[in-house]
Amino acid sequence: MTAPEAGIGSPFLVEHHPVLPSTNDRALEWARHGLRTGERPRVAVVAERQTAGRGRRGHRWSSPPGGLYVSYLTWPRLDETQTPALPLLCGVALIDAVGPRVAVPLALKWPNDLLVGGDGPLAGRKLSGVLVERLFQGPDRDPVVFGIGLNLVRREHGQVDHGRAVSLAELGVAPGPNEGSDPFSGAVWVDRIGHALSVRLERAGTEGSRAWAEDYERALFGRGENVRWEGPDGSMIDGKLVGVVQGGGLLLETPAGQRVLDTGTVAFPECAN
Ligand code: BTN
Repeated sequence: MTAPEAGIGSPFLVEHHPVLPSTNDRALEWARHGLRTGERPRVAVVAERQTAGRGRRGHRWSSPPGGLYVSYLTWPRLDETQTPALPLLCGVALIDAVGPRVAVPLALKWPNDLLVGGDGPLAGRKLSGVLVERLFQGPDRDPVVFGIGLNLVRREHGQVDHGRAVSLAELGVAPGPNEGSDPFSGAVWVDRIGHALSVRLERAGTEGSRAWAEDYERALFGRGENVRWEGPDGSMIDGKLVGVVQGGGLLLETPAGQRVLDTGTVAFPECAN
């Protein structure tokens, strides 16, 4: 594998592809390469479209041109108690990178869907999704891939769930001066998100969950509302969404007491999921 180019101002080397099956798969290849050679490459794999994009829980992630598809390969120094919460940390990093540039509040639907928050007309629409994957190699510095799909513009054939999706362009994000000939090429977002992710990971190494927990709770979509948790095996639990615990699990108040749920998804009675 040949070394990719360094992004301007980015802590990651950027490998750009017009098309890939999945940027996460390519980043995992880099992880295996790093483990074989003893190198620790920090690579951001970017594709203009994906032919086999993967979402959480085995879902397909529709990846036409007009979206940003990027996977960051990292080698975080974290203790085992923190690694389950990495998807939440990534959600907070996304808000760091995107939040200051949009005029609407952003929120995180557990564990890490980036949605429009607040109570405006676009509330609950999904702007970005995250798929975190990890190669287990032992206690010290497992490689972790953060795969992010971010809707930049909505093209004719938009994301599969286009009715519930929203793009940066729809949120009024104007092309910036550094964004190249294609204003929505995404390069600037690769750097911004990569930077935010590195900062949060670095902090998590020294501060533990304090590096993300408070900001996450503040951004948590539907806190205090009655929700339905749906487990991977089809089981369901209704309860009030209280917050998250240190390891990233969802805390629900149910008639049978408090429950911490580590997998699955949350459904809201009246809005997009
Ligand atoms: C989800 O909301 O289900 C997570 C979607 C994650 C999609 C991104 S796009 C870049 C990276 N490559 C993939 O195959 N998936 C992630």
